[in-house]
Amino acid sequence: MFLTVAIFLVCGLYGTPTALASEYSETPTLIANEYNDTATSDYADNCDGIGYLPSYTDGELTDAEKRGRCTWYLWTAGNDKYYRDIAKRTHGGVDLLKLIDSRIHDERFQRFGAINDPGCEKATAPDEYGLWLDECKDPLSTGVIGLRKFQNPNFDPEKWNPVEYAKNSEVEPPYRIGQSCAICHVALDPLNPPKDPEHPKWENLVPALGNQYIKESRLFAGNVSDDSFVKQVLNAQRPGTSDTSRIGNDHINNPNAINAIFNLGDRPKYPEVMNDGSIQEVNHILKDGADSTGVANASLRVYVNIGMCGDYWLTLHEPLLGRTPQRPFDIEKARKECEDWRQTEARMADAEEFLKTIGPMHLKDAPGGEAFLTKDEKILDRGKIAFANSCASCHSSKKAPAEIAADPDKAKQWYSESVRSSDFLDHNFLSDDQRYPVTLIGTNAARSLGTNATKGHIWEQFSSKTHKEMPSPGKLTLYNPVNEAQPIEFQIPNGGVGYYRTPSLVSIWATAPFLHNNTLGIYNEDPTVKGRVAAYTDAMEKMLWPEKRENIISRTDRKTRLDLPPGDPNARFSLPVPQGTPVNLLANINIREAITSLNLGNLFRDLRPEGGIKGKLARVLLRANKSPDFIEDRGHTFGSSLSDEDKKALIEFVKTF
Ligand code: HEC
Ligand code: HEC
Repeated sequence: MFLTVAIFLVCGLYGTPTALASEYSETPTLIANEYNDTATSDYADNCDGIGYLPSYTDGELTDAEKRGRCTWYLWTAGNDKYYRDIAKRTHGGVDLLKLIDSRIHDERFQRFGAINDPGCEKATAPDEYGLWLDECKDPLSTGVIGLRKFQNPNFDPEKWNPVEYAKNSEVEPPYRIGQSCAICHVALDPLNPPKDPEHPKWENLVPALGNQYIKESRLFAGNVSDDSFVKQVLNAQRPGTSDTSRIGNDHINNPNAINAIFNLGDRPKYPEVMNDGSIQEVNHILKDGADSTGVANASLRVYVNIGMCGDYWLTLHEPLLGRTPQRPFDIEKARKECEDWRQTEARMADAEEFLKTIGPMHLKDAPGGEAFLTKDEKILDRGKIAFANSCASCHSSKKAPAEIAADPDKAKQWYSESVRSSDFLDHNFLSDDQRYPVTLIGTNAARSLGTNATKGHIWEQFSSKTHKEMPSPGKLTLYNPVNEAQPIEFQIPNGGVGYYRTPSLVSIWATAPFLHNNTLGIYNEDPTVKGRVAAYTDAMEKMLWPEKRENIISRTDRKTRLDLPPGDPNARFSLPVPQGTPVNLLANINIREAITSLNLGNLFRDLRPEGGIKGKLARVLLRANKSPDFIEDRGHTFGSSLSDEDKKALIEFVKTF
């Protein structure tokens, strides 16, 4: 995405990246009060011994799974250093330490969708440094699940002044804050919802449903003014989503839902050609199936994306602004030169074991859940048949054998028997894990067009050769918001873009709104069983009766300005963006590239588009758009031609997943 641009408009550029640190000590601990530069000792090995984490499954977990759980919840891979960097570069706009201020302890869920650590209390007084921090049993906890607190090796007590720090992010604070996978993935438990979402207990939390309430954009909105266009882009981001291509920028505004992780052991694998020419059986990880060189690599890539080995990966692209071409992250180099990579890689097998322990959460097991389920076997059977006919070819990991699948009649019969059998849902990933062309799926194309895993780009080494060689799925004909009479024709490029992987439907009753961008169905911010079922029902109805959809196009809600060129403190001119402008008309453009190749700069100057973005300027902007697909909740109309009775029955059956 392009937009964190304005946050950086006033900011200096990155300094010369330092060489990869090679000296790391074994066991720095906060308790021992040693200052050190790594994250080795954050209880991420033996959190069970300490007991800060939930023990609900202790009895059932193996030692490896327990270690994996510690990694998932607590391990930050040294990214506290990177987030301190980001705080400075954004002049305090994105500063995790300021975000954990204990004075908002009781409002964190409502404000940020952040989940409070059940082992922490609101501070009653500032600490020895004048900072308001939660009081926690776990000394590395910040009070927010997934944010961890480390000593800042650059802290100088002589120079410390909290009032000055509040104004000037160059002042080194006593702590650096790191981020673990838990911040986005840990969620309120649908089977045991908290009485008060601001104050959950451990038994109200689950490791990997995906936090559907997180408001990531608030994290980035710190010092962006209301009359900046960038604020509009941030406002358009939906709760429960993360724009994972914000830092390693692909110039597409494409925040996407943090998906649930269930039944990993049953997830299908496919043979694909790796970058070294070998063939391996791999999952198609991510919405577009781009991470296709194994689960360990996919997870390591996320660690890099959230700041591990930051000194190295930040040399390969210009973070957030993306004004220079990306260079691929070299896995071998990281393995050789970055200690955090090696330590983290060594943890991945256990982490995967832990994630494999996560099974479905059935509505019937939720408090009061039975009341939302039909007892009518005839309705359920009708729903099963509809599912077999319209959905199971994609949304089941139990597949008809090739010779049966080849004959449509036999295949239909096979799916009908399979779906109606009593063990259909057992060990079913409820997805074939295949990538389908967006031209077939029909949903908003933005996420499928992300380029970070394509050849020459930052994650090139994390996608398979097979992925990078996928042909273009063809051309999209799209709604034109500036000239309805003239639909947009968009040719999808070759090279791995333009596909969506089938998502799993396991426990889908608990994770509406739907679709990769979380746009289908109401967002009610209600984690109760009733609230989740209401969101599910609304989303399913909109899915199966497309006429009920809202045709969402995010538009600016006031007059704003966009400074150009982005990131230039002496911006040459400022583009007025009228109220009502589709956000993605400007948000999906590599402005630097467009200024040069399309002479956009002159156009802006000549046209003075006070009256709206139309005519020649609009046409040029559309041509430069990396994803000129404006309707966010469209597509995936499978099942829409079923009868109303079949649709209602299908909603009842899918609710049992
Ligand atoms: C800032 C939020 C955020 C953080 C932190 C985060 N994730 Fe995710 N995670 C996401 C989003 C968003 C998706 C969906 C991404 C997509 O498919 O494009 C996701 C999806 C996943 C998936 C499932 C992909 C699939 O195909 O089913 C895995 C596995 C995963 N993340 C692992 C991790 C690991 C490991 C970490 C810690 C290093 C982590 N995540 C940290 C936001 C986050
Ligand atoms: C051709 C394969 C295919 C068929 C057939 C299909 N789906 Fe999907 N389904 C997908 C893909 C791919 C997505 C992801 C689309 C996106 O997010 O943009 C998806 C998304 C979904 C989602 C949203 C999941 C989430 O986590 O947000 C639901 C619910 C769903 N499908 C239900 C169904 C039902 C019910 C049927 C039958 C009426 C069906 N699908 C038929 C491929 C398919």
